[in-house]
Amino acid sequence: MRKCAEAKAILVGLQLADWVGCTDVVVENDNESVIHAIKEGEAGNHSFQLLLEDIHFVQEPIYGAECFTYGLLARHRCLLESSSQLRVTFLNLSDVPLQCDDLAQLLGNCLNLRRLWVLDTVGDKGLEAVGSSCPLLEELRVFPANPFDADVVYGVTESGLVSVSYGCPKLHYVLYFCRQMTDAVVATFAKNCPNFTHFRLCIMNPGEPDDLTDESVDEAFGSVVKSCKKLRRLVLSGLLTDLTFEYIGKYAKNLETLSVAFVGSSDLAMQCVLAGCPKLRRLEIRDCPFGNNALLSGLEKYESMRSLWMSTCNVTMNACRLLAKEMPRLRS
Ligand SMILES: *[C@@H]1O[C@H](CO)[C@@H](O)[C@H](O)[C@H]1NC(C)=O
Ligand SMILES: *[C@@H]1O[C@H](CO)[C@@H](O)[C@H](O)[C@H]1NC(C)=O
Ligand SMILES: *[C@@H]1O[C@H](CO)[C@@H](O)[C@H](O)[C@H]1NC(C)=O
Ligand SMILES: *[C@@H]1O[C@H](CO)[C@@H](O)[C@H](O)[C@H]1NC(C)=O
Ligand SMILES: *[C@@H]1O[C@H](CO)[C@@H](O)[C@H](O)[C@H]1NC(C)=O
Repeated sequence: MRKCAEAKAILVGLQLADWVGCTDVVVENDNESVIHAIKEGEAGNHSFQLLLEDIHFVQEPIYGAECFTYGLLARHRCLLESSSQLRVTFLNLSDVPLQCDDLAQLLGNCLNLRRLWVLDTVGDKGLEAVGSSCPLLEELRVFPANPFDADVVYGVTESGLVSVSYGCPKLHYVLYFCRQMTDAVVATFAKNCPNFTHFRLCIMNPGEPDDLTDESVDEAFGSVVKSCKKLRRLVLSGLLTDLTFEYIGKYAKNLETLSVAFVGSSDLAMQCVLAGCPKLRRLEIRDCPFGNNALLSGLEKYESMRSLWMSTCNVTMNACRLLAKEMPRLRS
């Protein structure tokens, strides 16, 4: 019962947002900010937020509701019955743990979506709904609802990513927190969406191998940098060897920002990236085995870079001092 109410409540909010002419919608659990946003909306701001705590009012007669939102709706009850397509282009549900059916119900009314943020509670089935309902989607972000809970059984996998890549050919930005991935799937994905600019794959368990072969996922990122020539931002995760970095150095000609954590096997990895990637501006490295040689191999490259961030790597204070002396402008 409660589940249905949730999708319905959000839909009401979306209809209201549509009615006041908003196309960007953030659904929040928090009270104050929502009321503030409603007032802002009234003042002409193009952001609109729906108060989830009012969910139970939705099943009540609308005119009984206390909240400003529903007061407005009371005057426009027809909105609830209408099933017309909404104009919303950005829907941010990253604060709302929706199940797949709820998401599917919502998306049926949102064929114009360009950007969608959701929690991984929607599961692969929820992402199938995205693939079949959002032909214009350009950006998808899937966040973990419980990132630190290893026992959680829901979440999204490679299968959700594939559904989206088939249904959303305009997709070019993905942030994807998942529990497992395979090379083959990422290759399919990269082939289906060659215009990718941002690929941020976060396999939550550090060093997680390919789910099918139990080997590294080097070829996954290899296929991304080979197929997606416009790639500007890349986040790496999973079990990776230096081979991934060789691919990146060789093929990622437009890469501007690279973030890595818990990956790589030697200094060679970082050296490959620093020797290739002509447009690299930012490099963020955490918990990798890279040492002084890797760090200092980039002295020339750093001339054209804006920031270098290394944490829990194998570099010494002396190397950092040397770098700071050589490159006073680099923020590191
Ligand atoms: C949320 O809003 C309701 C109605 O405006 C109010 O009674 C309640 O105290 C608010 N809750 C919080 C946590 O602010
Ligand atoms: C819109 O929101 C921004 C940020 O909250 C605020 O600075 C601005 O004054 C608002 N504009 C209107 C017309 O309310
Ligand atoms: C999306 O929603 C989350 C949670 O409410 C919020 O922190 C974030 O700033 C929102 N992002 C955008 C671009 O609206
Ligand atoms: C990729 O971008 C090019 C040029 O903007 C466009 O012609 C092509 O249709 C796009 N491909 C896909 C699959 O959207
Ligand atoms: C860290 O660097 C030192 C030399 O700088 C090297 O002897 C050691 O093996 C490195 N450790 C790791 C884990 O790479």
